[in-house]
Amino acid sequence: MPEKQRILTGMRPTGQLHLGHYLGALENWIQMQHEYECFFLIADYQAMGDHLDDIGLIRRSVLEVATDWLAVGLDPEKSAFVIQSYVPEHAELTMYFSMLTPLNQHQKNPTLRAETAQLESEHQSISLGFFNYPISQAADILLPKAHLVPVGEDQVPHIEYTRDVARRFNRLYGDVFPMPRARVGRVPRLVGTDGQAKMSKSLNNTIYLADDPEAVSNRIRRMVTDVTGENPRLRATDPGVVDYNPAFLYHDAFNDDADEVAELKERYTAGTVSDREVKERLTEAINRFLEPIRERRAWYEEHPDYVRDVLLAGTQRERAIAQQTMDEVRQAMQVVYT
Ligand code: TRP
Repeated sequence: MPEKQRILTGMRPTGQLHLGHYLGALENWIQMQHEYECFFLIADYQAMGDHLDDIGLIRRSVLEVATDWLAVGLDPEKSAFVIQSYVPEHAELTMYFSMLTPLNQHQKNPTLRAETAQLESEHQSISLGFFNYPISQAADILLPKAHLVPVGEDQVPHIEYTRDVARRFNRLYGDVFPMPRARVGRVPRLVGTDGQAKMSKSLNNTIYLADDPEAVSNRIRRMVTDVTGENPRLRATDPGVVDYNPAFLYHDAFNDDADEVAELKERYTAGTVSDREVKERLTEAINRFLEPIRERRAWYEEHPDYVRDVLLAGTQRERAIAQQTMDEVRQAMQVVYT
């Protein structure tokens, strides 16, 4: 049996996970854990980059994210859940990689540029730690020598940079790192319930994995069904537009009853179903989808010590590998003095 290929991917612990996380990432991860040896990273260093004023949120979220991961079905027997800052080798390799990274190339990273512009528009100052995070992310990926990195579209430049720094290291010091590849999910990005491009806590357009049926119902009742404002629908008899309609994007993504979705689309286009009914069916579908997640979540919430054990065990598993990689790095670079 050839050894399984490795995956490393991660999330920032800055709040509860929502349907966008599920579709853009978790759904993919759950599949992949059967075929790959997976490391799922809770990137708390990275969260400090723009949430340093709220360490309490980061602390709560580390446990919360792990709880959500378990609730959706990530299996700690198969996969390691890792707390980034508990493996100090992440910081060590980041230091070496920062030496190998030309400043002008780093400044061109489009995702970093967009995020920096966003923070500046909110009058937040940019720390060197934040500016450095793509380098630290390359270290995250290469420490366990991951081959594959399942991520959202916006993260692809970081994976390209990771290949770059791996290539540069290998050329200078000999083959230590594999060349990781990015893999983007089925639905790279779920629109918010208000139709905005992204689901996000700050936009108040989220459905959380931990939401109860009533919260889901309230959110969907106020869902926007006409994003451009060009297809207003005043009555159920007005012919409606299905394309780019958030209600139908969500039906497509989460309703397990494909016949119902096809029928609703037909009736919507013909003007024989109300927005209200489309939304009620969607509420039912999403609650059907969330129910088993809620049930599992309730158990983990009552057993936080179990969740902590999962985190510590996974972290230890990665740390052993990380230490090995750092030995190889030092040997390859000849950073050995005694
Ligand atoms: N930057 C990623 C995000 O915001 C999180 C992350 C941290 C990550 N380290 C990683 C993703 C390593 C993939 C690989 O979602």
